[in-house]
Amino acid sequence: MTDQTSNAMWGGRFAAGPDAIMEAINASISFDKRMARQDIEGSRAHAAMLAAQGILTDSDAAAIREGLLTVLSEIEGGTFQFSAALEDIHMNVESRLKEIIGAPAGRLHTGRSRNDQVATDFRLWVRDQIDAAIQGCEALQRALLGQAEAGADWVMPGFTHLQTAQPVTWGHHMMAYVEMLGRDVSRFRDARARMNECPLGAAALAGTSFPIDRQMTAEALGFDRPCANSLDAVADRDFALEFLSAATICAMHLSRFAEELVIWSSAQFRFVALSDRFSTGSSIMPQKKNPDAAELIRAKIGRIFGAQVALVTVMKGLPMTYSKDMQEDKEQTFDAADSLMLALAAMEGMVRDMTANRPALEAAAGSGFSTATDLADWLVRALNLPFREAHHVTGTLVALAEKKGCDLPDLTLAEMQGVHAEITEEVFGVLGVHNSVASRTSYGGTAPEQVRIQAARWRERLG
Ligand code: ARG
Repeated sequence: MTDQTSNAMWGGRFAAGPDAIMEAINASISFDKRMARQDIEGSRAHAAMLAAQGILTDSDAAAIREGLLTVLSEIEGGTFQFSAALEDIHMNVESRLKEIIGAPAGRLHTGRSRNDQVATDFRLWVRDQIDAAIQGCEALQRALLGQAEAGADWVMPGFTHLQTAQPVTWGHHMMAYVEMLGRDVSRFRDARARMNECPLGAAALAGTSFPIDRQMTAEALGFDRPCANSLDAVADRDFALEFLSAATICAMHLSRFAEELVIWSSAQFRFVALSDRFSTGSSIMPQKKNPDAAELIRAKIGRIFGAQVALVTVMKGLPMTYSKDMQEDKEQTFDAADSLMLALAAMEGMVRDMTANRPALEAAAGSGFSTATDLADWLVRALNLPFREAHHVTGTLVALAEKKGCDLPDLTLAEMQGVHAEITEEVFGVLGVHNSVASRTSYGGTAPEQVRIQAARWRERLG
């Protein structure tokens, strides 16, 4: 037991203050001060509404609204003294407001509770992060689009199982990530639309007997409408979970691309050169240029997915409505949001700066019998073989080339005719990688003309 006096904000029935350990486990100010701006925005809207409804006098409301701006400028200016004894951002702000404006500060909390207050603040905070995530995704999409437009017809190997499969174009590969990020953006937008309801005015859990106007506060804070059920309003954290879930999928996409960049920038692949600005050196091996940014992006998903698992686990056993467990919703969500924004920005920088090694891409595109499918398709088209038989003939030719230690276009016509007598000179036209990609003109295929169509569509959308 400490000799502190009881809490000034709720200590009416308490004779003594909390133990230091109690304060340590209970206080959230060390992290929820990040929601100061949202807290003050919510309180200013609440005060204006209370005055409009005749619950507060205009002069009290004006003093509160002005005073809150002073508090905000102190916080933003770094002069605000945060106190763990005041637990959280809500009580820190209100207590300082009282020091600045005196008695009217005590009227601000009319018709609300910290339960609807924190739910509102956190929603506003998550909503800002959703907007930032959308911007980050779109900036990265633009960088990828730049790569795709420049290299719509550069050939590279396409892989399945990380084994050379068929030649594709650089632009097509870049556009695959543009599509993934497009789905990320749409997931963030969906989450935003669903979360955009205002909990303020649900009060502790049951609503309030004051004649408040929830429509007015909802509108002032940019929400589409007030939450319809006061119990749900204070108990819900779906909005954070949906953000984390969309963030997890987005981070998974970034992680996959990061993995490719790590592989591509290796001495064995040399598909891309990362810029010095987005690489690091080794303290012992002078020749090294390491793709650290890509590796860290690849790892960030761990924290983001971790936050999602942590929060869903916090929420899963909670009875209606608010429980203090829910204070654990913030720290990891903050960390996940920071990680996502940083990963998006780093990836954007890396993609903008990286240089594709066209000769290496093209050489790799032609190795590994990558045009075997083109050969089989030609046998079907030109010789009218059933595809199964064409597949078999091609397989025999691949085995022959492998035995000779050469690629398919290096076989002679005579060697080919030894496997199937009707093969003609014409076959060499389909064995080149450029012809191969140019022929893949089906919608969404890798042909440069298809890539340019898709890139133009996205360019128009993204600007
Ligand atoms: N710091 C608290 C949180 O983050 C604010 C809400 C406290 N509500 C309460 N009834 N103790 O959840």
